[in-house]
Amino acid sequence: MKSLPILLSLSVAVCSAYPLDGTARGEDDSMDFVQQYLENYYNLAKDVKQFVRRKDSGPVVKKIQEMQKFLGLKVTGKLDSSTLEVMHKPRCGFPDVGHFSTFPGTPKWMKTHLTYRIVNYTQDLPKDDVDSAMEKALKVWEEVTPLTFSRIYQGEADIMISFAVGEHGDFAAFDGPGKVLAHAYAPGPGINGDAHFDDDEQWTKDTKGANLFLIAAHELGHSLGLYHSANTDALMYPLYNPLTDLARFRLSQDDVNGIQSLYGPPPASPDDPVVPTESVPPGPETPTMCDPALSFDAVSTLRGETLFFKDRHFWRKSFRTLEPEFDLISSFWPSLPSGVDAAYEVTSKDTVFIFKGNQFWAIRGNEIQAGYPRDIHTLGFPPTVRKIDAAISDKEKKKTYFFVEDKYWRFDERRWSMEPGFPKQIAEDFPGVDSKVDAVFEAFGFFYFFSGSSQLEFDPNAKKVTRVLKSNSWFNC
Ligand SMILES: *[C@@H]1O[C@H](CO)[C@@H](O)[C@H](O)[C@H]1NC(C)=O
Ligand SMILES: [Zn+2]
Repeated sequence: MKSLPILLSLSVAVCSAYPLDGTARGEDDSMDFVQQYLENYYNLAKDVKQFVRRKDSGPVVKKIQEMQKFLGLKVTGKLDSSTLEVMHKPRCGFPDVGHFSTFPGTPKWMKTHLTYRIVNYTQDLPKDDVDSAMEKALKVWEEVTPLTFSRIYQGEADIMISFAVGEHGDFAAFDGPGKVLAHAYAPGPGINGDAHFDDDEQWTKDTKGANLFLIAAHELGHSLGLYHSANTDALMYPLYNPLTDLARFRLSQDDVNGIQSLYGPPPASPDDPVVPTESVPPGPETPTMCDPALSFDAVSTLRGETLFFKDRHFWRKSFRTLEPEFDLISSFWPSLPSGVDAAYEVTSKDTVFIFKGNQFWAIRGNEIQAGYPRDIHTLGFPPTVRKIDAAISDKEKKKTYFFVEDKYWRFDERRWSMEPGFPKQIAEDFPGVDSKVDAVFEAFGFFYFFSGSSQLEFDPNAKKVTRVLKSNSWFNC
């Protein structure tokens, strides 16, 4: 198999040399730069000369449009300043492709346990920092796949990591400071899987120079078989995006989809429910509505009624009737699981979303919508979130709040996307709501939070708890 090094090039030096508004000379230089860029990354034929001055919609304009589309720019076909600006960002040296992608022939490791070895070090950072950058970068991939890594100190590892300058024995010489930062080889024996870092760069722990963790995480993505993605949030996006807040680094869903297309998701964690093998699973007891210890799995409105989920059952309470109705979940929605985690209604869509584990369903009346269940990560949760505790949708603002342990996320129902800046601490924005949330729903402008057998009535405008109630206070016990 051919060994393809993947180059991550830093073109900062190029950037300052080419003014974006055209003095005659600057423009010529820019033209060369643009031509080169399109040749390198968008397969522009090398004999197309002086293309930029042509005003027709020939192959060159098409290439510019293709690039603008890929890089998430407005598609104008013109080299406007924002296009040039993005083209000058540090990037990886390989051509751009669609969404996450793998190498031709889809090379991948045929085992899930891989070894790595740090062959030598840069002088720029203490050894411990290099070790921990590599460990963290591998962890990024380990968390979302069945892959595990262990470090060896001698002999041939699957992934050999080294720092080198100039020619270093693989026909892909490094080039001094700037431009090419590192390269890595797709999975396979020998040099395949290896990652080389250009030691003429200034390697850093923060974002001042070339951040070793971020670049290693990208390169190791190549070592595991991932190629580039057009998704601007992806780690495998070809432009190097030094994050300002490294603590918030997380893989995008696109990276997760990519790596899981090769290796699948991680095995079930020990916290996942396990069916006991020894004892016969006790038939879930039928809950009694006036039990003072009664708690709920999830609570949601549905077309003006309120549903209180518990194990295989739910109570259905309409404000017109005193006595709630008690039903089996399966008698309304045969394919829904029991013991759901969360539920909320979006009245404008006449839809209730039901969550369990990493899946969710959309129901309308007693019909489950086509295309469900879907994975909760399609909503924008990071891979570390394995289940939702509770959810509620604010009708007015068209925002949904998802509660997960002590944090919450806010989701925009109109744009169907998670809002930036989340998660936040629940206690910060819902003062008084300080124990784990089992369920939440809205009535009369209040949010009702359930935790075990108690319930908090929360005024979202005044941002305070107004009453403490028993969970089953809705049942007139
Ligand atoms: C580190 O190891 C690589 C691979 O064996 C080699 O090419 C490079 O010269 C070494 N770097 C230093 C500084 O010894
Ligand atoms: Zn790359």
